[in-house]
Amino acid sequence: MNKISIIGTGYVGLVTGACLSDFGLNVLCMDNNVEKIKKLEQGIIPIYEPGLDVIVERNVANHRLAFTTDMKKAVEESDVIFIAVGTPPAEDGSADLKYVEAVARDIGRYMNGYKVVVDKSTVPVGTGQLVKLWVREELAKRGASYDFDVVSNPEFLREGSAVYDFTHPDRVVIGAES
Ligand SMILES: NC(=O)c1ccc[n+]([C@@H]2O[C@H](COP(=O)([O-])OP(=O)(O)OC[C@H]3O[C@@H](n4cnc5c(N)ncnc54)[C@H](O)[C@@H]3O)[C@@H](O)[C@H]2O)c1
Repeated sequence: MNKISIIGTGYVGLVTGACLSDFGLNVLCMDNNVEKIKKLEQGIIPIYEPGLDVIVERNVANHRLAFTTDMKKAVEESDVIFIAVGTPPAEDGSADLKYVEAVARDIGRYMNGYKVVVDKSTVPVGTGQLVKLWVREELAKRGASYDFDVVSNPEFLREGSAVYDFTHPDRVVIGAES
């Protein structure tokens, strides 16, 4: 059973997933970009980041790291789900949360038991409440009422030293209500 799923296998998602698997955890990295996942399954890393290829290779070989485009599987087979999709600036400069909303709604759609939903994307204050609302709305549509918690865990890594920054952070921010 995969214990951790990362939704959005971009810069932050891939580094997070690869490094968490290197800590010994089972990680499933999901992305809706089929080409990206196909490449990763073939061992082709879509970004250049010192040390990342070796970490991915080692953990795929040890069956702790896998890739998928299947959101249902990523939700059902995990206890902890990281949201690591992009939050590009909207026209007024605020973060566009449409990808975060899509993922939160999918989580509600496929939730099959207690989950910890961790927001790693860079988002404005109050987004945790929105994520809760979006998940709850989808659960209500199904007539389901699973418990879940939403945690804020923003990422501060820098491109070019992302593996080092993730594994040697000068701060770790975790916000949770329970
Ligand atoms: N890149 C950085 O240096 C950095 C550092 C700190 C924080 N962040 C923040 O982390 C977040 C992610 O940034 P990034 O640079 O990794 O972005 P990215 O564009 O590299 O990756 C985002 C990924 O999410 C995928 N995606 C989008 N919608 C999806 C969906 N519904 N389901 C599954 N996958 C989906 C995309 O295909 C893409 O692969 C942003 O909020 C960004 O601001 C980035």
